[in-house]
Amino acid sequence: SKMYSETLFEHIKNPRKVGTIEDADGVEEVGNPVCADTMTFSIKVKNNRIEDIKFQTFGCGAAIAVSSMVSEMAKGKTLEEATKITNKMVAEALEGLPKQKMHCSNLGADALRKAIENYRVKKAGFIPPMEAKKCYCPVCDLEKPMEGEYCTGCGREVSEEEESHAH
Ligand code: FES
Repeated sequence: SKMYSETLFEHIKNPRKVGTIEDADGVEEVGNPVCADTMTFSIKVKNNRIEDIKFQTFGCGAAIAVSSMVSEMAKGKTLEEATKITNKMVAEALEGLPKQKMHCSNLGADALRKAIENYRVKKAGFIPPMEAKKCYCPVCDLEKPMEGEYCTGCGREVSEEEESHAH
C-alpha cells in the first residue's frame, strides 16, 4: 500500500524554500514535543504581505514536506491570511499523512504563526525580556521573587548573599 501521497513525496524530494533569510523580519524556532524535531521559519514582510519565506527543519521527511508546503501556502499572503493556515489545511494540501506521521504535521502552521508573531513583536518595538533567572530561598528552598527581600514561600527575610541562583 502507498504510505505517502505523490504530493508529499514530491515535497520531500524537492522541498521549496529551504534556508534562512539573513535579514528576516520575523524568525522563530519551534520544537515538536513528540519527537523533538525542530522547525524554523524566517519571513520577509512587505506591505503586510509575506514577501519571502524560508525554512530550516531538522526532522523527518514528512516534517520537511510540511515545512515546504507551509512555505508555498504562505508566500504572497497577507499576515492575517497566513495566520489562518491550519495544520489540518497543510496535511490536506499534502493529500494526507500516514497515521503514524500525523504528529509531523502538527508543527508547520504553528511554526509559521510563531514567525509572524515574532515579526509583530519586533515591529511593535517590544524587546522580549531575558529568560528570568530563578532565585531560591535558602530556608524553605522555594522559588522566591528575584527582587523581593522576603521569600513568598516562608516569609523569611533573605539577604542577597543568602540567595541561591540557578538558571
Ligand atoms: Fe519528528 Fe516527523 S518524526 S517531525
